[in-house]
Order: sequence, then structure tokens, then C-alpha cells
Amino acid sequence: MSSESAHPSPSAPVFRYSITGCGGIIAATHINALKQIPTARIVGMCDIDVTSGKPRADELGAPFFTDYREMLASVKPDISVICTPHPLHAQMTIDSFEAGAHVVVEKPMAIEAAEADRMIEAAERTGKLLAVNFQQRFKPSIERAKQLIDSGAIGPLVRVLVVEPWLRTKAYYKLSHWRGTWKGEGGAVLLNQSPHTLDLLCYLAGLPKKVWGWIRTLYHDIECEDTFQAMLEYPNGAPGYITASTGEAGVQRSIQIIGQNGALELVGDTLTTLRFSPSLAEHLATSSEPFGLPQITTQIETLPGDAGGHYAVHCDMQAALLEGRQPRANGPSGRMSLELANAITLSSFEERAVSLPLDRETYHRLLDDLQAGRRALNRMTS
Ligand SMILES: NC(=O)c1ccc[n+]([C@@H]2O[C@H](COP(=O)([O-])OP(=O)(O)OC[C@H]3O[C@@H](n4cnc5c(N)ncnc54)[C@H](O)[C@@H]3O)[C@@H](O)[C@H]2O)c1
Repeated sequence: MSSESAHPSPSAPVFRYSITGCGGIIAATHINALKQIPTARIVGMCDIDVTSGKPRADELGAPFFTDYREMLASVKPDISVICTPHPLHAQMTIDSFEAGAHVVVEKPMAIEAAEADRMIEAAERTGKLLAVNFQQRFKPSIERAKQLIDSGAIGPLVRVLVVEPWLRTKAYYKLSHWRGTWKGEGGAVLLNQSPHTLDLLCYLAGLPKKVWGWIRTLYHDIECEDTFQAMLEYPNGAPGYITASTGEAGVQRSIQIIGQNGALELVGDTLTTLRFSPSLAEHLATSSEPFGLPQITTQIETLPGDAGGHYAVHCDMQAALLEGRQPRANGPSGRMSLELANAITLSSFEERAVSLPLDRETYHRLLDDLQAGRRALNRMTS
């Protein structure tokens, strides 16, 4: 675990937590993570589903609420953890800031970039910290890749490629009524599974400036996309490509980032790093060999797969508060993947390239039409 996410000292101050959506699947992971942190105390739990939520609160001896605003006013947590379906994230985050709490919100931070803007503005206005739960940024392989990029070992972008299978079955989409619907989550693979994929792409390579998106529902009986691909153009003109699907299985996530000075390829947690000498640009311009390669040195590292997970995200948030810095995935950083997801969807429906920053109004009108049933993905593809 890196210094940013180091385990808190037992003598450090205790932070009081509330958990909203405490009866759900991911809340259990947050509760387990917080139980392992000696400086975390859960002081309030909330869910509209008493059957799933209350037993968890009772087990911890924490007061249980069915109204999160009542909980925030009553227990006044230091940190509000939001584990509800994504369309609720923005309002719950803003209400938490206004009740005096910092926030750890599940990914995606919202369903529209415009909501993320409002969350970031509210964090700034109230002087509170906002962390988006992108726990994969704490995987040792991602930390190593980021360190290589930040050190200049890869250099200016030449090309990016990201592929990730996210298999989900029919049984998965039946777990909760909101899954795979425009109203319930504002998208499917782009808003639920691939926020991690998109986040790692943006964390490592930055936001592209232009997106050509393609989304389809190929494998599941759901309203929204289960498969997407996008062609990307970066600010320096470099090309990129990303694809993911919940109908695909078997291969590991693959990330390739090629730069002028070197390249990295991450397959699962195995990181291959190449270094070019001279740089690609210099080699192209100066080599007398029509087909010759620059000198390439290769290093292969298999890093531990353990993400540190939600534990690392919570440790990082506590450290950020104590050190007066931002958490690793703060609001603007956590918004990148959402803005890209929205742009891919807009580009697909409008069958045109979409430039970033995303035109929030245009995307909002599209999502509004999709949620109201005035437009449909399947109708577009038929
Ligand atoms: N970081 C990760 O890897 C990861 C993994 C899974 C889920 N998630 C995210 O976590 C969120 C929840 O996903 P889940 O799979 O746990 O869903 P879930 O349906 O299992 O849980 C959501 C919970 O929120 C509760 N809820 C709904 N409306 C509420 C309200 N108004 N007030 C209080 N509680 C309310 C529900 O009753 C339910 O218990 C989603 O945004 C999802 O993307 C993140």
C-alpha cells in the first residue's frame, strides 16, 4: 500500500461514519473495510429497506434510519458513505456536505456529468472532501503504471488501447429492479461495470478531446447498453480505443499505453514495461534503417492482485483529511470516467464525434428522452 493510503495510526483521531444504502451488496464491503480500521466508527446506518438494513445496523449497535436526511441531522457523521443506486448519489452527496460531512460516494459518482459538476461545486462551497470509490486505483499494478507515467518513462502519448470483459448473467440483472434501466442507472455496462475501466483509462492517460462512441444491447434483455466501443482522440492527436461488454468472458483486462519514450502493457496484474532508445520520434526521424526498431529494453513484473479495495479508499480519505490534501479520486478526477461514458452514449445516439468537455445540456436532453421512453436504444439498432 502506498504512502497515500497507509494504514492509519491507532493513536490518530477517530472518524465517525454513516452509511446510506446500508442493506445493499456493496455496503457490506464498506462495513467490513471500516471494521478493520481502528480509527473508523460507524455511528449511523440508513436504508429504505428495513429488512436488509436494520439487521446490519443492529449487529454493529448503530442507530438505524429509513430517511438519510434524518440520520445526517441526528448523528452528524464526519464522513458519509453513499452506497445507494447511482441516480441518488448526487443529491445524497450534496445533502451530506450541507449537513457538515465529508463524502465517500460509490462509483459512478452520478449518472450525468452535470450532476458531478454540482457535487464538486458543493464540496468547494462547504469546504468538504469528496472521494469517489474507485478502489482499483489502489491496485499495486495500477499504482506502478501511474508512477511510470508520472515519471516520464512513457512520455507523450502515441496510442492507447483498453479491453475489458465484464461478464454478467440474466440472474445479475434480476438482483435489483434498477439494473440495466435508463431511469434506474442511466446506462448499463457504461454506468455500472465499466466506470472502473474508464476511470483507469482516464487516470493513466487523461481525458481524450474527442470521442466516437458505439453502444448496443447485444446479449441481455435490458433497456440499456451491454456492450460499447469507442474510438478516442487525445489532445496531442494520439488515437485510442476502448471496448467492454457484459456478454464477454475469459480474457483478462488489457491496457496498453504507448508513448514516445516507452510503453506499458497491463494484462491482469502483469505489467510489461518497454523503454525506447532513442525516443520513437527521434528514431523515426534519424534512423537510417527503413525497418529498424529503436533499442527496446523490456521489464516484466507480476504484481499482487490485491486491490487493497475499499479499505485503501477509506484509509486514503482519512489520511487526506489529516494531511489537508485531496483524496486520490476526488470530484474532478472521479468525474472523468462519467464524462467519457456520457460522451460515448451521446456519440452513439447522434452518430457523430463528440468533443470534450461534454455539452451537458445536449446529453441531459438525450437522457431525459431515454428515461421518458421517447427514445430507445433497441429501436435505434433495429
Ligand atoms: N466500487 C465497486 O466496485 C462497486 C461494486 C458494486 C456496486 N457499486 C456501486 O454501489 C452502488 C450500489 O450498488 P449495490 O450493488 O450495492 O446495489 P443494491 O441494490 O444491492 O443496494 C442499494 C441499497 O440502497 C438502498 N436504497 C435505495 N434507495 C435508498 C434511499 N433513498 N435511501 C436509503 N437507501 C436506499 C436499497 O434499499 C439497497 O439496500 C451502485 O452505485 C453501484 O455502482 C460499486
